[in-house]
Amino acid sequence: MIHVGTRYEFADKVSDYARLALELAGLLAGETDLIANAANTAAFIFDAVPTLNWAGFYFLKDDVLVVGPFQGKPACVRIALGAGVCGTAAAQRTTLVVPDVHDFAGHIACDAASRSEIVIPLIQGDELLGVLDVDSPEPGRFDDADRRGLEELAVIFLASLRAGHAG
Ligand code: SME
Repeated sequence: MIHVGTRYEFADKVSDYARLALELAGLLAGETDLIANAANTAAFIFDAVPTLNWAGFYFLKDDVLVVGPFQGKPACVRIALGAGVCGTAAAQRTTLVVPDVHDFAGHIACDAASRSEIVIPLIQGDELLGVLDVDSPEPGRFDDADRRGLEELAVIFLASLRAGHAG
């Protein structure tokens, strides 16, 4: 199933992501629970951002990424640091945008429909908490505006985990 978000036109990605950022901050306000906020963030992104087939989290546990709350097809549970797109982004602590997953050596195919992917590491202070992973069935789905917009949503999720939600 391909879920197509319908609430935003996404004709102007910068302003639409800015609206999504405000909405997500409102959705998470007053709650600091990791699972609750990860679940709502995954559902929010999947519902609001067009043309996705997977959106969710992997959290680092004992040096392995373990799947967390997500929307989409059931996914591989454990990914080693350095493996696949998720493990590579986590190990490098840098966002990876993969225009065509078929061209990424070592890509881990959880849903065969995925053609492009963005993985954003979640870093609190010096600590790697995990990654936010978003997949699309369209090749080349994520451009630089998507990267900046989704990175901002990841920052809002991380801030929500701290009491008071200060930056
Ligand atoms: N494609 C990812 C695996 C996770 S799924 O896409 C949900 C990877 O290569 O790490």
